Amino acid sequence: MTRVAVVTGAAGGIGGAVVDQLADDGWRVIAVDVREDELAARAAHWPGHVLAKAADVRDREAMAEAVALAETEFGGLDAAVACAAVIAGGTPLWETPDEDWDALFDHGVRGVFQLARAAIPALLRRKEPRSGRFVALASAAAHRGLWHLAGYNAAKHAVVGLIRGLATDLRGTGITATAVSPGSTRTAMLDATAELYDLPDVEEFARHQLVERLLDPREVAEAVCWLCGERSSAITGTVVHADGGFTA
Ligand SMILES: NC(=O)c1ccc[n+]([C@@H]2O[C@H](COP(=O)([O-])OP(=O)(O)OC[C@H]3O[C@@H](n4cnc5c(N)ncnc54)[C@H](O)[C@@H]3O)[C@@H](O)[C@H]2O)c1
Repeated sequence: MTRVAVVTGAAGGIGGAVVDQLADDGWRVIAVDVREDELAARAAHWPGHVLAKAADVRDREAMAEAVALAETEFGGLDAAVACAAVIAGGTPLWETPDEDWDALFDHGVRGVFQLARAAIPALLRRKEPRSGRFVALASAAAHRGLWHLAGYNAAKHAVVGLIRGLATDLRGTGITATAVSPGSTRTAMLDATAELYDLPDVEEFARHQLVERLLDPREVAEAVCWLCGERSSAITGTVVHADGGFTA
């Protein structure tokens, strides 16, 4: 049976790669992001497979609409992938402005919560035996302290906590909840991180990974898409580290 996903952050580097890979694997996808033009361009590559839904993950109603679209247009929901987040930092924790802290938690944690609130009831509406999947992007920052990124560290630890709790609430349903923690991956967010550190480019980040290079977003998407599939049924309440050995 054709599987159906909602993916947030779908105009971004990793979210975009997840949309492309799921669509290429035959999935139907509701692609969610606030960046309407980039979203529309991606959806245009996959006519009939990918529908763009311009929406803010902080908005409970908008997440409900995205999930409703999956059910009305594609007949149900099998996976929800939370990629949307922002980066902020560049100062020690005690100098972090409230706006930075709030942005990290509103987009990066509340957004995951809002997606889960909308998506889990739809995943539960699938008939048994279910194979629903909820996958959230955490980070190597959920497992290591990173200099001048303590707010991001805290938000990403919160994502892992949310996933652990959610997986417990889903016990026995056939639906799993997992996090993927990427290492440094060549996307706009990594560019923004280099700027926070006043680095001339992103290449410096490569030396922290055992693979001695930056990851391509498609490599992270491989792990996410595998978790979305029926074959990942043994894995729930935990983290897959797609980090090139960053946290090894
Ligand atoms: N790139 C990396 O090195 C890296 C490393 C570890 C974890 N991550 C995580 O991977 C995920 C994807 O990051 P990326 O590198 O692809 O970043 P990205 O900046 O390329 O993409 C993020 C996307 O999220 C969207 N977004 C942000 N706030 C939103 C909101 N409120 N509503 C809807 N959309 C919103 C943005 O418009 C953007 O398109 C994030 O959760 C990030 O924290 C990235």
